[in-house]
Amino acid sequence: MNKKIELGQVFTSEYLSKFMINLFSGEITEHSRILDPSMGPNTFLKYFDKSTINPELVSIEIDNSLITSDISQFYDKENRTLIIGNFFDLPLSEKFDFIIENPPYVRQELLLDDNSKEKILNSINLKEKIPSQSNLYVYFLIKSILHLRENGKLITVVYDSWLYSSFGKFLKDFLIKNGIIKSIYHIKNNSFDDALIGATVIEFVKTNSYNKNKIKYFELNNLNILNAKVKLIDSEKLKTYNFNESEIINLEHKIFTTLENLSEKTIHRGISSLANGYFLFDNKKLLEAIPIIKNITKIKSYSIIDEFSYILDLNKDISAKTKLYLDDISNKILLTKGKYKALKESIKINSNWYKIKFKDSGNIIFNYYVRNNIDFILNKSNTYCSDNFYSLQIDEKIYVNFAILNSIFSKLSILIHSRNQGNGLRKVQLYEFKKVPIIDYKKLNKNVTPKLEVLGRELSNSVRCDFHKNEIIKKIDLLLVNEYNKFSNENISIKDLKNDIKRFINKKEDND
Ligand SMILES: C[S@@+](CC[C@H](N)C(=O)[O-])C[C@H]1O[C@@H](n2cnc3c(N)ncnc32)[C@H](O)[C@@H]1O
Repeated sequence: MNKKIELGQVFTSEYLSKFMINLFSGEITEHSRILDPSMGPNTFLKYFDKSTINPELVSIEIDNSLITSDISQFYDKENRTLIIGNFFDLPLSEKFDFIIENPPYVRQELLLDDNSKEKILNSINLKEKIPSQSNLYVYFLIKSILHLRENGKLITVVYDSWLYSSFGKFLKDFLIKNGIIKSIYHIKNNSFDDALIGATVIEFVKTNSYNKNKIKYFELNNLNILNAKVKLIDSEKLKTYNFNESEIINLEHKIFTTLENLSEKTIHRGISSLANGYFLFDNKKLLEAIPIIKNITKIKSYSIIDEFSYILDLNKDISAKTKLYLDDISNKILLTKGKYKALKESIKINSNWYKIKFKDSGNIIFNYYVRNNIDFILNKSNTYCSDNFYSLQIDEKIYVNFAILNSIFSKLSILIHSRNQGNGLRKVQLYEFKKVPIIDYKKLNKNVTPKLEVLGRELSNSVRCDFHKNEIIKKIDLLLVNEYNKFSNENISIKDLKNDIKRFINKKEDND
């Protein structure tokens, strides 16, 4: 696997690293002991070359190839130690006054070798069970806190997933139980040069005495700290605090239900083929190929008509021609270098290696990689869909719900629950998608639902990139904004909602 991914090598910019150093430089004395457990190119501690104070510096880096002669010379000086090795080998008896770090970000399923879960858990040896979905940075932060002396300080920059994820709840709890989070700087965009996603800088002080405090939460759209908005969050409420907030609407209002409540069947991702190039086709190339919805850009209207691709369903009898095809592709797959690791294993040991698991599709599908088009599509024929879609099954008032799903309220809700992937692309994770608040049609005035029904039907027949659909959606939005205002005693307008949406989409809306 790519070393950069396996070791989470994304480096901190100069601007951000200076900002982090400034968060504790005023507190350092000659007697301070400072650690960077994932040094990279010595991003943080190099600033001490210019400092008049000479604290003890300890850095750890597992990747030998990052150690330049400049770095070696830097650590050759008195009172400095460079450990080329694994942070999880550092004994917990080593204590520090300050720890500064940008820990590696590696998803749990990629935790292998030096960063295997077994090794990590042995080294941390914590009584509480750390959630198994935790990203590597969570383990780094927990171990770092265990290395802090009483009143020691941790300054770290980590991706913002801990604010929203279920494993993040554990980290929040751990931080609160072991000290005080003084500040969280939430930089929502462009925090790293080569990874355009949101990040948080956390300023944490370890203390054994239990303290309630108000955490300063700074929201920034880029690294310009002067433009930050500040909120105070009670430390006790951190775990339940909703970081996915709308500035305009209250998504916890009882006019909303959730997508998972609306769907009759569990919402799930579509079908994964074993190797797209060999199992998914543009046309019905083989007898056993059946229709599947794959390509969102092919879908012209709000309803699936015949924009199908084809997938091989080999769960029943297989024709002679297809058998030959399977022989041919199995050889090709086995000869492909650097890809299909699991599939190659399966070809070798499993005579049914080509069988794909089919899952029913729902009558509404949603492509979870979103740009400006955040469209729910009607799939009346329940055609199978591929794994770039989530599918829902709505049995009651399908056209009313279809109108609501494509309203500005749902669009904003989806964006709030999505993550920036860079270059204008956002992704909605399945567990977050299920929780997306959607206006509950049962709460609407009885004379509004027939109007939504007509508009939903009209929308289902319209073209996605056509101007006419904007007219229909505008009528839907007006009805819903009125209902929301009546319900919540507010006076918001469609324009307010559009402005809120602009936080997520930089390009001007095409229906402005
Ligand atoms: C996100 S980078 C940060 C580097 C640097 N501190 C910066 O901010 O630019 C994380 C670094 O941790 C290193 N790393 C990964 N696993 C490690 C481990 N178990 N022990 C020590 N270093 C590790 C990676 O090689 C990488 O250089």
